[in-house]
Amino acid sequence: MTTLHTPSADTLTQAGSCLRQGGLVAMPTETVYGLAADATNTQAVARIFAAKGRPSFNPLITHVTTLDSIAQHAHLDDRAHTLAHSLWPGPLTLILPRKDTSTISPLVTAGLPTLAFRIPAHPIAKALIEAAGRPLAAPSANPSGMLSPTTPLHVAETLGNKVDMILAAGATDVGLESTVIDLSTPTATLLRPGTITAEQVSQALGAPVDTNIKHTKSNTGEHSSITSPGQLLKHYAPRTALRLNAIDLTPGEALLAFGSITFMGIQGGGAAKELPSNALQNLSETHNLHEAAANLFKMLHTLDKGGFHSIAVMNIPHTGLGIAINDRLHRAAQQTEQT
Ligand code: TXA
Ligand code: MG
Repeated sequence: MTTLHTPSADTLTQAGSCLRQGGLVAMPTETVYGLAADATNTQAVARIFAAKGRPSFNPLITHVTTLDSIAQHAHLDDRAHTLAHSLWPGPLTLILPRKDTSTISPLVTAGLPTLAFRIPAHPIAKALIEAAGRPLAAPSANPSGMLSPTTPLHVAETLGNKVDMILAAGATDVGLESTVIDLSTPTATLLRPGTITAEQVSQALGAPVDTNIKHTKSNTGEHSSITSPGQLLKHYAPRTALRLNAIDLTPGEALLAFGSITFMGIQGGGAAKELPSNALQNLSETHNLHEAAANLFKMLHTLDKGGFHSIAVMNIPHTGLGIAINDRLHRAAQQTEQT
């Protein structure tokens, strides 16, 4: 298993040169851990797909630290400048038309005429991009179709022997992947909900955002039918089945709670609050959606290890950040396709 490296001037220099030589480095971002490679090096990018077992038609996000470096590769219109100034650095990804002169590897874009860019806020991500001196392609650092990693240990457990270095900077703050907004269309379109809500984007733009997210049911469909392959329905899955909007428990089930469980019962007798901690995780006892988002993948990881026949999940209000949490829960609950 790759050893975890504490970020320091030395390890960042080492990670930067590893990336320039075509290596893979797992890096913390404020959303989830990313599996980074030099976006201009096709061989390095190919290693990302191999390590993740990712369908090669699923394009990657390129991470940079400045708007100028994006302008070298993509067309930025007024909307892009507005969103960049109000919401970057942060958990937002913009889909932009690619420039013909861009040196980003075509493998990053999976043949699409667009590029996905993000300027992350995490100081270690920023330092790593600067140390590498290259734009970094980085999907979430998990095997394709599995839960995104919010701790360095998640990365080590699932991809440990496939990455050259893991920069370990503790649990991530946001806990959910970035909001993806498509600006290659006349109306800005939400492709993936996140902590930055469609309302925030719409407010910043002073224009409506299309939020009619269309999920693609199968990953075996025609490539051309996939605008954003991240919309594959089955995407953020634990191994254990999920049962959503649970109001009570069946015997032998684990519980992912939200809010009070004082009065929640187990069918046939017993109380949810008496479950052991490997069977009971509470996203937020105080109904705090930010806390719930930060805990979601970590708690699903914990419950997934318990060997339960299913995980009952309590209702999460479908407003604000709850929309992004419900999006991930609905995807995780789909048992039909495994990407
Ligand atoms: O928070 C995040 O976004 C994390 C951190 C590491 O930055 N990254 C992440 O990457 O979640 P990934 O590869 O797991 O998800 C990228 C999403 C996918 O839904 C992908 O289909 C979409 O972005 N995407 C990338 N390029 C695209 C493009 N040109 N057009 C449409 N969608 C694109
Ligand atoms: Mg992912």
